[in-house]
Amino acid sequence: MADLRLDTLPGVGPVTRKKLNDSGIHNIMDLVVRGPVEISDITGMDFDSVVNLVNKARYQLIEEGKLEKDFVNATEIYKRRQDLGRITTDTDCLDHLLDGGVETQAITEVYGEFSSGKTQFCHTMCVTVQKPKEDGGLDGGVLYIDTENTFRPERIVTIAKMKGLDPEKVLDRIIVARAYNSSHQQLILEEAGPIIEENKIKLIVVDSAVGLFRAEYLGRGTLSVRQQRLNKFMHLLVRTAEAYNIAAIATNQVMSAPDVFFGDPTRPIGGNVVAHTSTYRIYFKKSGKKRIARMVDSPHHPEQEVIFTLTEVGVSDPEEDSKTKVDKLLSKKTEKKPTAQVRGPAKQGPENA
Ligand code: GTP
Ligand code: MG
Repeated sequence: MADLRLDTLPGVGPVTRKKLNDSGIHNIMDLVVRGPVEISDITGMDFDSVVNLVNKARYQLIEEGKLEKDFVNATEIYKRRQDLGRITTDTDCLDHLLDGGVETQAITEVYGEFSSGKTQFCHTMCVTVQKPKEDGGLDGGVLYIDTENTFRPERIVTIAKMKGLDPEKVLDRIIVARAYNSSHQQLILEEAGPIIEENKIKLIVVDSAVGLFRAEYLGRGTLSVRQQRLNKFMHLLVRTAEAYNIAAIATNQVMSAPDVFFGDPTRPIGGNVVAHTSTYRIYFKKSGKKRIARMVDSPHHPEQEVIFTLTEVGVSDPEEDSKTKVDKLLSKKTEKKPTAQVRGPAKQGPENA
């Protein structure tokens, strides 16, 4: 394993190291993730020397194969993308929607109204990420940033048991950080570097990413400050996911757009900030006892919907009888019979706050 200690970097003596440590920069990956602007801001160090330091950190990480080179050709990127980690949802339908599962080096945003299953999805992924690679997991731990106090270890125990895993071991590999306000939420992520390394974290869950920001910055006058801070958080999340090659799931709340007269007026909050930093956006919608998941925004997935349910085991495939019904319906409409319960494409654009 690569040595990420700050003093492996030429020019970092005990004084600089202490200054960096005091500002929450604990290893050379932190230097790269946080970037020179922020570091010089919080440490008071001269900007040019911080740029120099961050560049050295980057070169060292590139040499150790922990970071990408600045210039790479597309073939190399293509090859590397084949190595991206994916975490199975343990359902055919959602794996189909996600092209195999939740991807590393990206933020997968899940938005939907209350009870639509966002938290249940997060709990399920906390268990599946721990499965061995041959079973669709990444054999990794979880950092769960809980902003709504809805993390329930009992649910993890049930889900783990039903998936044939040892619940005690599964609980041990989930590090929960309860965020009390938006600045605390930011701080937790800033301090996450060493925890990610030590616990072989492969998934960060933020449930919910936007809630505290939304609650604290009320009214139009504070909207730009809220968006600025949210932007900072979401960018740090995506940089962390990329740098450590881990998956990030961020849940988001919804609001009803007042200007929509036709179709579904439900829109994710957080506006462009969340839309632009999330690589994948999935919309969870209630439909009686069932749930519909729609891939709303993705660089390479088709826009489509699948039906899933919420059960004791977390997110699940719908029961066989309803599945056959939908399959029959779909095969009547199209020649090609889909493998999972795929519904037709539907339009749903990313939205403003
Ligand atoms: P908010 O956080 O309120 O916005 O909602 P959410 O989208 O996070 O909803 P959550 O994931 O908490 O889903 C709650 C729903 O999951 C409940 O209404 C139940 O339908 C379902 N659910 C939770 N636990 C179980 C369980 O053990 N068995 C079954 N069958 N369903 C469950
Ligand atoms: Mg929830």
